[in-house]
Amino acid sequence: MKKLHIKTYGCQMNVYDSARMADVLAPLGYTQIDRPEGADLVILNTCHIREKASDKVYSELGRLKPLKDRDGTLLAVAGCVAQAEGEAILARAPYVDVVLGPQAYHRLPELVARAARGAGAALDTDFPVEAKFDFLPAPAAIQGVSAFLTVQEGCDKFCTFCVVPYTRGAEYSRPPASIEAEARALVAGGAREITLLGQNVNAYHGQGETGAETGLGALVRRLSRIDGLARLRYTTSHPRDMDPDLVAAHADAPKLMPFLHLPVQSGSDRILDAMNRGHTVQQYFDLVARLRRARPDLVFSSDFIVGFPGETDADFAATLDLVERVGFAQAYSFKYSPRPGTPASLLDTQVPEAVKDERLQRLQALLRVQQDSFNKSLLGQTVPVLFERQGRNAGQMVGKTPWLQPVHAPGSDALQGQVLATKLVSLAANSLGGIVVETERRSA
Ligand code: SAH
Ligand code: SF4
Ligand code: F3S
Repeated sequence: MKKLHIKTYGCQMNVYDSARMADVLAPLGYTQIDRPEGADLVILNTCHIREKASDKVYSELGRLKPLKDRDGTLLAVAGCVAQAEGEAILARAPYVDVVLGPQAYHRLPELVARAARGAGAALDTDFPVEAKFDFLPAPAAIQGVSAFLTVQEGCDKFCTFCVVPYTRGAEYSRPPASIEAEARALVAGGAREITLLGQNVNAYHGQGETGAETGLGALVRRLSRIDGLARLRYTTSHPRDMDPDLVAAHADAPKLMPFLHLPVQSGSDRILDAMNRGHTVQQYFDLVARLRRARPDLVFSSDFIVGFPGETDADFAATLDLVERVGFAQAYSFKYSPRPGTPASLLDTQVPEAVKDERLQRLQALLRVQQDSFNKSLLGQTVPVLFERQGRNAGQMVGKTPWLQPVHAPGSDALQGQVLATKLVSLAANSLGGIVVETERRSA
């Protein structure tokens, strides 16, 4: 038995990819361990989205080098830094054995075998025409109660701040039949919730059995028919691709959960335009209103960037105003980070770091207030909770509300995989405490 350790950075697509890399290496005798010490192969699955994210790779490689020197551990760098920096990684960290981009994971066994033979470092960052999904084995590792399933990859949007179109390539949608087969396998393995993943998941347009294209709304309805599957979610969606059929799915597909991550980035039309987001603030408000009409208990989350080049105090005030008007249940916010090769990084109107810091703090304070008040609004209510796993304390289980809030409740393993009416009785920083009030299994 050989030992494999994978460390995952970045988005949920990387989490999914890491699971698939473990699947593809399993037939070679690799089993996963949760520390790098003692591993025969360590894979860093990396993220290039912001400067800090990619810096982490080199510091981690520095920490792993002594392990390699001592035990001969093979080191592989996968993911978006591998795709973006390829050769540069081998120049900066020549002891790395394999560098491979996100489209090359099905070739991992071959690359690892080559490195193990001592045939020198292997680099594979091509964007092959064949789809990697056709060459990867069916998922072997059981993902648990809540599973990820990548349905779409890549991005053609070219927001001026973003590296993803360069690291993940053009948009590609998997055929619905292969997605359904994978979803059924996940459910057979114990999954009760599936989150459909894509860099632009609502741009999904897979080719169906009849040759006609399927949008994400139709895919959601198709997967809703799988017995045993209780909940569906999708992320990350782009406001531009929220077509009427997908909005309608929020009304007519009850398994689709009432939480939507719909990143807007900024509340200023001028900045949205400079970012090449392709919509206005008003269009975002209208979309939120349409979605709320379709599913009145729908709540929103978003990503924000502060300090995009040229962002003035007035632009930033407009972002705060948008946040006030929409009201978010949760959100991520980041300081703009100039990324090599992106158009925005070349602008000479970069915002000073101190200004970015101050704006980020103000935005995060407002988002925190909104998140806390949303969580508080549920106190005392009884809601369906899907229990996923044991909590840190004995006799405690952790699950999620339909609105993605973690809930801790007293209970045994027997709750795992069940959706149970749970009364929310206490509030912590990022979670709620509950008591299960219904013991039979529910379907949603
Ligand atoms: N496809 C998604 C976003 C994927 S990247 C979308 O279009 O919304 C995840 C988030 O990282 C983005 O929403 C954005 O807020 C942030 N991000 C991307 N590039 C960034 C950069 N150069 N600097 C700071 N934040 C960035
Ligand atoms: Fe990046 Fe924009 Fe594509 Fe999202 S839509 S992945 S932010 S280029
Ligand atoms: Fe990062 Fe690549 Fe995801 S850059 S956010 S790991 S698509």
